[in-house]
Amino acid sequence: MSEPVSASAGASDIVDLGAYGQDFIADPYPYYAKLRSQGPVHRVHTPFGQDAWLVVGHEAARAALSDPGISKDWRSKLSQAGTGGENALFTNMLDADPPQHTRLRKLVAKEFTTRRVEALRPRVQHITDELLDAMLSAPDGRADLVEALAFPLPMTVICELLGVPSADRALFRLIAPTSPEEAQQATIELSEYLVGLIETQRKEPADGLLSALIRTSDEDGDQLSREELIGTVFLLMAAGHETALSLISNGVRALLQHPAQLAALRADFSLIDNAVEEMLRYDGPVQTATWRFTTAPVEIGGTLIPAGESVLVSLASASRDTERFVAPDDFDITRDPRGHAAFGHGIHFCLGAPLARLEGRIAIRSLLERCPDLALDTDLDALTWRTGLIIRGTDHLPVRWGI
Ligand code: HEM
Repeated sequence: MSEPVSASAGASDIVDLGAYGQDFIADPYPYYAKLRSQGPVHRVHTPFGQDAWLVVGHEAARAALSDPGISKDWRSKLSQAGTGGENALFTNMLDADPPQHTRLRKLVAKEFTTRRVEALRPRVQHITDELLDAMLSAPDGRADLVEALAFPLPMTVICELLGVPSADRALFRLIAPTSPEEAQQATIELSEYLVGLIETQRKEPADGLLSALIRTSDEDGDQLSREELIGTVFLLMAAGHETALSLISNGVRALLQHPAQLAALRADFSLIDNAVEEMLRYDGPVQTATWRFTTAPVEIGGTLIPAGESVLVSLASASRDTERFVAPDDFDITRDPRGHAAFGHGIHFCLGAPLARLEGRIAIRSLLERCPDLALDTDLDALTWRTGLIIRGTDHLPVRWGI
């Protein structure tokens, strides 16, 4: 672990996360532990050039995520500054404050309750079984778990739920671009695609949430504007697949790296629900909550953050805080992991948590049941990591079985 640039890190010193380099991307936890030992809130240079206040303590994270002086509505900030903010893709609940947030969330919330999502169980199991059939037919007993299961399962589920035709799904892979140019291109393509899809389903309604939302927005113009419709569908696609992908791949990786935990789960699959919560706590898919900014001076964890500053909340760090969890760096599927920060906190608490849990539990249990000798087929050092501060996960996860 390389030393932070500002080793004395008081709240007023700037810590250069970029200087931590590749080590930080592959394993940020020792860095977060060091920062937590110096205080719950730090001023940082991010590896991507912006400065922000980084919240690393568990209690401070919850305080920041529920402080009304910390906003998510960066579009109105940008348009006030005359620098854009008009992109329809981002006209959605995650980029809004109350009362817009409340309205946009309420329109889709009933589709994502635990009860509603439970009805999807047979379909999620069926899709999982088919993907595992295909994976296990590989003659050499090897596969990339991301390609074979972790990517296609949540993608298929969210596309079916929305009513996005299967032929068009490859387009949404671009939601995880690797460069700013690719991101810009993907944004344009997706926007155009969604406009076209909405037009098609307006003329010929299909099964699924998208057509239901189009009906709502047509019946009462106040309900959901065209931009809000595009933004909501985009958010559900974006939030609904890459995160669940990382839950499956990070979770399986943690199990394969901890043979005693894997054996305990294999011996008693009734532990699966708790095991998935521990996977979310130990190495969750969302490392840092999305960008926020202060609209007024706010005090978080004893640090006064002035108005107009960017705030990042490290969910990964909060879930490893010794003030909240005993031996937080131990992966223990029998501990009580409640209170982990993986789904965020406050009004933006993950809307898809019940669906993510269902997918994670079914995928991981079915995989282990079908592959009694599943093993990693790579050196951990050879794995490449998603760049960016938000999503945590590897690009691939080579596994083998029956060898
Ligand atoms: C394990 C998988 C998942 C994780 C770890 C996760 C995590 C999160 C987190 C941390 C937030 C809050 C972000 C913030 O406050 O900045 C969030 C919001 C959200 N998530 Fe998830 N998510 C997952 C899966 C899903 C799925 C499957 C969906 C399904 C559609 C979904 C839909 C959403 C939506 C719509 C929001 C915005 C809620 C709001 O602004 O009120 N998520 N998620």
